[in-house]
Parts: sequence; C-alpha cells; structure tokens
Amino acid sequence: MTNVNKFKSGIFAAASVLALFSAGVHADAGEAVYKKNCMACHQANGQGMAAVFPPLVDNSNITDKPAYIAETIVKGKSGKITVNGAEFNGMMPPMAYMTDADIAAVVNYVNTKFASGSKEISAAEVKAVR
Ligand code: HEC
Repeated sequence: MTNVNKFKSGIFAAASVLALFSAGVHADAGEAVYKKNCMACHQANGQGMAAVFPPLVDNSNITDKPAYIAETIVKGKSGKITVNGAEFNGMMPPMAYMTDADIAAVVNYVNTKFASGSKEISAAEVKAVR
C-alpha cells in the first residue's frame, strides 16, 4: 500500500466511526437510560417476567402511545393489566426524579425498539405529562 492509500483508508475509517457515532446518539441514549432504570424489572430485551413484570416487547397497550409510557414512568402503575391476554397485577414505582430528556429518550427507545412503534415524544411533551 502506498502512503497516499494508507492516508486515504485512515480518513475513511475515521469518517465511518464518526458517522456511526452521530447516527447512534439518540438510540444509544435511550438504551443507556433503559439499562439503568428499567432493565432490572423488564429485562434486557424487554421480554419481562411471566406473571411479575409485563413485557414491553410486542406489547399492544403501549405501541405508539408515547404519552402513556411517559405517564407510567412519571406516576408509576399498579392494579390489574392485561398484556396480549396475560394478566399482571403488580406495582411499578413512580420515577418522577428522572429528567424530561432521559424519559423522552427511554420512551422513544421502548416504543421503537420493543413495541414496533414509530411515534416519538420530546422532552417538552414529557414535561406536560407531569
Ligand atoms: C421495580 C420494577 C420496575 C421498574 C424498575 C420499571 N417497571 Fe415498568 N412495570 C413494572 C410492573 C410491575 C408493571 C405492571 C404494573 C401493574 O401490574 O399494574 C410495569 C408496567 C409498565 C408499563 C405499562 C405496560 C402496560 O401494558 O400497560 C410500561 C410502559 C412500563 N412499565 C415501562 C417501564 C419503563 C420504560 C421503565 C424504566 C424507565 C420501567 N417500566 C421500570 C415494574 C417495573
């Protein structure tokens, strides 16, 4: 390889890394917030735990309902719910201490990665749910 080609491939590698980084910021932010705040109960891949923690994956209650997901995080949830025919009657503690930006990022992550939705919520819209 000539020095010029080495230089060119170096530039290309650096540009690829930058492109990957900037494209992934939003999703990565939501994933990190999920791991920190939700994963202990809803599990790493969002499948939940039978009869204890409802799944977020393919959960038709939450698909494209970002305001509902945000409200659940801010206010918590208890009482009987049915998820795709399976019953849950547990208690999710309110997590109003999370920032609007963190809640927006995790709602968008859960809706698009787990629940096959596409609607996104902004930090300002999360504030309005509080
Ligand atoms: C301490 C365990 C726990 C943590 C942490 C937790 N949840 Fe939950 N979550 C639950 C339980 C239990 C329920 C079901 C409550 C019920 O039965 O009424 C629930 C319900 C939900 C629902 C409603 C599901 C439906 O079908 O209506 C959503 C959405 C949700 N959680 C999202 C999240 C997100 C996002 C996070 C992280 C920011 C999170 N949860 C953190 C335990 C938890």
